[in-house]
This record gives sequence, C-alpha cells and structure tokens, in this order.
Amino acid sequence: MSTLAAVPRSIWEMAGITEHLGGPEGTRRLLALCGMHPGERVLDVGCGTGHTAVMLVRDYGVRLVALDCLAVNTAATRRRVDKQCLLRDPRVTRADGHNMPFADGEFDLVIAESVLAFCRAADVLAEFRRILRPGGVVGLNEMTLLQSPPRELEEILQITFGIHAQEANGWRRLLAEAGFDQLRDDVRRFSLREQARSHRQVDGLGGYVQAMTKGLANLRLSRVFLSRTMLGAWRRFLPLIGYGLYAARRAP
Ligand SMILES: C[S@@+](CC[C@H](N)C(=O)[O-])C[C@H]1O[C@@H](n2cnc3c(N)ncnc32)[C@H](O)[C@@H]1O
Repeated sequence: MSTLAAVPRSIWEMAGITEHLGGPEGTRRLLALCGMHPGERVLDVGCGTGHTAVMLVRDYGVRLVALDCLAVNTAATRRRVDKQCLLRDPRVTRADGHNMPFADGEFDLVIAESVLAFCRAADVLAEFRRILRPGGVVGLNEMTLLQSPPRELEEILQITFGIHAQEANGWRRLLAEAGFDQLRDDVRRFSLREQARSHRQVDGLGGYVQAMTKGLANLRLSRVFLSRTMLGAWRRFLPLIGYGLYAARRAP
C-alpha cells in the first residue's frame, strides 16, 4: 500500500495557486494552434485566477465565458477582469466541467489549460463536444509524460496531486475517441526557467512568492513538498515531465 499523502484541494484553494505549464507564452502558442478569430464565442474551462481570460478578451477580442468549479477562483477571475477595465465584459461562471450549463453548439472554441488531468477527461471531452458547434475547435494544454512513467511517478502525481497525466498518445487517443479530428499538437519538456518567467508575468514575482509562502505555511503542504522523498523524486522525474498543446476540430 502506498504511504504517499494527498494534498487536499482546499490547500491549493486557500493559497490561490493556479497555473499551467508553459505560462502565458504557452497560451499564445495554444491559441495560434487553435486558429482563433475576433468575435468568436470562446469558453475557458478551469479559468483559475483569470489570466488567460483577460488575455483572450483584451488581446484577441473574443466573446468570452470563463468557468471554474471553485468559487475562490471565479471570484479571483472577476477581480482581475474588473481591474483591467476591459472593453468587452466576459461572463464568469461557476460550474463543473463534467456537466456545464450551456446549450448544444453554443461555442466556437473551448479551451482548457491544465484542467483535464484533474478530471474524468473522457467525460469532460464529451461535454466539450456537445457544447461546440460542428467544426468548432477544442484547445488543451495538459501535463504530458515524455515516456512511459515509472510507477512511483504515477503514484506521486495521482495520489499526492490528483493529476492523471498521460503520454502524448494518450491525449491524442482521448481526443479522437471523443469525436475530434484534424489534430495539431506541440509537445515540450517542462522548463523551470520558462515556469519562473510565467509566474512573473501572471502575478509578478511578489504575488507568486506571497501565494507560495501562504501555501507552504500550511504544515500539511510543506511536509509533503519539502520531504526528502519528494525532493529526491523531483530530481529524478523532472526530465520525464512535459506539457502538450493539443488543438482539434469537432468532427461534423
Ligand atoms: C491547475 S489549475 C489551472 C488554472 C488555469 N487554467 C491556469 O492555467 O492558470 C486547474 C483549474 O481547473 C479547475 N478545475 C478542476 N476541475 C474542474 C472541474 N471539474 N470543472 C471546472 N473547473 C475545474 C480548478 O479549480 C483550477 O482552477
């Protein structure tokens, strides 16, 4: 039996830590893969604290709905949106990606950055298919294992962090089975330098250090993160961890 401890979701919630691998530059590359147009109806599922939401409205001029299942994140997104005084106000809503309050075919594009790995991915993709118009596009950024993972890594990701990461072929297969085609993807290795740059861009260094300090001040979290087992595991396993950008079309 595994002795790994789970990090309760409430701790992430309290710390207000949400991010995706590749940061805002990864988002721009994902949106380029999706081939988006101004004025399109776009849904950002698992919007976290709303950095991508603001970028979508401000830089791409889309009609946006930002959705997250946690009230703390929809509130943070709302605050970020209000602070930016955007010309077009996005709708921010709280709902579960497995069962969303939207009509069939309501969106041109659905994106999810670092969300499906925390969900029942096949069910969420079926829901994306339902709410996309025929020919609409799904764009994912998901943790992607660069080779078949040792059992220890799988257990750390799943038990401690609740992450069900896949190899690239796993994500491609899930998309195909959910009824998406014309897949384009871009898979890269995780880079600490890229991630540090992303934190500075999203919340400023001060904001991120503040969130991390708040998180690590929680004894349960710091016991997991700073344990010798975890630090050793990261050193060994980091080269196996990457992220994939996947864009695919809802097959007619
Ligand atoms: C790792 S964070 C990524 C947040 C944001 N997309 C970003 O890149 O910064 C995962 C987000 O997905 C949300 N989430 C997880 N499961 C969800 C679900 N079933 N429905 C809606 N949101 C979900 C979490 O609340 C969290 O905001």
